[in-house]
Amino acid sequence: MIQAEHISHRYGSEKVLDDVSLDIEKGRFTVITGESGSGKSTLLSILSTLLVPTEGSLSFDGLQSTRIKKIDRFRNESVGFVFQFHYLISHLTVYENVALVTKAPREKITALLESLEIGPLADKYPDEISGGQRQRAAIARALINKPRYIFADEPTGNLDSRNSQAVFDLLRALDATVIVATHDHSRILPGDRVIALKDGSIC
Ligand SMILES: Nc1ncnc2c1ncn2[C@@H]1O[C@H](COP(=O)(O)OP(=O)(O)O)[C@@H](O)[C@H]1O
Ligand SMILES: [Mg+2]
Repeated sequence: MIQAEHISHRYGSEKVLDDVSLDIEKGRFTVITGESGSGKSTLLSILSTLLVPTEGSLSFDGLQSTRIKKIDRFRNESVGFVFQFHYLISHLTVYENVALVTKAPREKITALLESLEIGPLADKYPDEISGGQRQRAAIARALINKPRYIFADEPTGNLDSRNSQAVFDLLRALDATVIVATHDHSRILPGDRVIALKDGSIC
């Protein structure tokens, strides 16, 4: 479980998160929604330990994030990230982009690509495949080390409706605690945990 208590964040003098407290249950698919500028990306960055909040505390299964001694190792082993812009390396193939971040053997990588329905594209370069396929490759890279937590920031921001639905279906089906920030309400299903932000506060 992730517990955030009294999180506030300022960029300079601008307060963009104001006293946000929340619990995220293990294994639950959680969506952070709100208009552009409401603080979704900032909150997601804080929950994923990439950004240290100006105020407040964060814990994972009861362990305060500031007490995680090897935070880089925690991120590498326990956290997977998916972004709007996939950040695949353009001169590496789909397979190589995933292989770069893992010690997993070839069979495991291939099996994961197949389960994400991009197996036949393993030897293609990012600019040879579609936006939806690139996002699946980025998801494969986030998943290969079997992280306990997956954070996705507007993962469908660049995709058409059909591919967006497919990416959400895929993230929802993962055996991990998945937290997605999106301004797109239409992807939310009954059963999803929804955290709605307005001007940096939960509403
Ligand atoms: N690195 C930054 N430096 C200064 N201001 C920022 C930075 N990142 C975001 N902001 C500001 O913080 C507010 C919240 O942004 P953000 O968390 O990106 O919201 P959202 O993801 O909901 O669009 C916005 O007003 C934005 O301009
Ligand atoms: Mg954002």
